Amino acid sequence: MRSKLDIDWKQIDEIISRYENDKEALLMIMQDISDIYNYVPPEIIPVLAEKLGVRKSHIFSVATFYKTISLVPRGKFIVHVCTGTACHVRGAEKVMDALKADFKTQEGGTTADGLFTLEGVRCIGCCASGPVMTVNKETHGGLDRSSALKVIENYRNISS
Ligand code: FES
Repeated sequence: MRSKLDIDWKQIDEIISRYENDKEALLMIMQDISDIYNYVPPEIIPVLAEKLGVRKSHIFSVATFYKTISLVPRGKFIVHVCTGTACHVRGAEKVMDALKADFKTQEGGTTADGLFTLEGVRCIGCCASGPVMTVNKETHGGLDRSSALKVIENYRNISS
């Protein structure tokens, strides 16, 4: 995980310029920053406020409203377990419980090694494959406790 010292301010400037400093593009700008750091480092917020001409409180409220944006460091892999109705009736809760136990964290938490952040999300649009989870942009369906843990193990292996 990166610390605040790792912020590439030139890259942040380029992102803001790409959207022509348009305050209407705030969410997209924060999403692009998240794609780099997996969260929006809070020290970027005053810069965004100045360059986009918006209040810091507005940025905080947008960041809080959208679940895809986080202001606290997240893991290298963001694990979204779908807790929508179709996945719920097929056992999403068991998948979530297995991951909580494996990660030794609760929903919204990050593993001690900084590898995984666990989040529950509503329907992600592939109900027929439920229970479903995504790991970063990859979707994994038809899960139960053990297959979900196997998926996680594969990510552990590729990052070790
Ligand atoms: S309810 Fe889980 S993908 Fe739709």
